[in-house]
Amino acid sequence: MCRADRGVVLGLHRSDPDRALLEHALNLGVSGIDTAYNYRGFTTHRALARTAADLIGDFTLSTKVGYFPSGTGERPVHSLDPDRLRAAVERSAEDLGRSPDVVFLHNPELALTGLDPAEAREKLAVASMALADSVRSGLCKAWGIATWDPRPVRAAIEHGAASLQPGFLLLRAGLTVAAPILDAAEHLCRILDIAPEKRWGMSPFSGTTTDPAWSALDLRAFFAADQECSTPQAAFRLAYELPQVSRVAVSTSNSTHLQELVAATRLTIRGEAVSRYRNLVDKGP
Ligand SMILES: NC(=O)c1ccc[n+]([C@@H]2O[C@H](COP(=O)([O-])OP(=O)(O)OC[C@H]3O[C@@H](n4cnc5c(N)ncnc54)[C@H](OP(=O)(O)O)[C@@H]3O)[C@@H](O)[C@H]2O)c1
Repeated sequence: MCRADRGVVLGLHRSDPDRALLEHALNLGVSGIDTAYNYRGFTTHRALARTAADLIGDFTLSTKVGYFPSGTGERPVHSLDPDRLRAAVERSAEDLGRSPDVVFLHNPELALTGLDPAEAREKLAVASMALADSVRSGLCKAWGIATWDPRPVRAAIEHGAASLQPGFLLLRAGLTVAAPILDAAEHLCRILDIAPEKRWGMSPFSGTTTDPAWSALDLRAFFAADQECSTPQAAFRLAYELPQVSRVAVSTSNSTHLQELVAATRLTIRGEAVSRYRNLVDKGP
């Protein structure tokens, strides 16, 4: 039975698409998949189409472009070159067998850091136009910006008057996000006028729940006394508040974990505890 969408997005950064997990996700009401052109050595799009061609139409599908094969078999290279971006969007739609719902510019800050603000602004504007063109030509339904560190993006956007209008932002979310990154993310949402439902979070555990820091945490103060949950569930629910996002992309290859995450979305947060936490981290060193 398909249940209401809980805003949980299955991220494919850390594992290959698994048909049983995708079927389980749909049954739980998880209707988002997040991937990228470069994930798993540039193979994820094709693997997804091969494994679940008949299922991917049931998901909201987001992907990202910005990393390209190096040509030497080494680490992928990052680029905002508009021709490469356009070609990557085209190739993504072809490999996926459908047009993605959202294509994000992947970590544009990597190409902006250290540039003079006008140059950074121009570079971001040209890359954004390449994605906006892809929407116009039907290769994807919307475009957005996925950024691990929003500060250089915010600086580029603040400089100059020309309008850049991504439909969505994908931002780091949760307790592991440092105050300057949270502030920059919230500021970026404001200056781009991104409505709350168009703000998505990612990486709620910063990639792992096995770090000993997680087992040392007691997050009960964030929840009403009658709410029972594990630390990963509490941390996942908090990711929707830090910053405020409507969906959270999380990696898991474990169906029980996915079920726990979906259950966590129903937890009621004590808003005043989140505000106190924000005040505390904002005052940090
Ligand atoms: N710059 C970008 O655009 C960017 C950067 C990073 C991430 N992302 C997106 O965000 C997604 C998630 O981020 P991430 O890959 O950094 O990882 P993450 O979601 O922060 O953490 C994944 C880890 O959490 C564990 N986990 C998940 N649910 C759990 C549960 N209920 N209990 C215990 N452990 C649990 C998983 O292990 P199990 O497999 O054992 O469950 C996995 O090892 C990515 O797949 C990608 O879509 C985008």
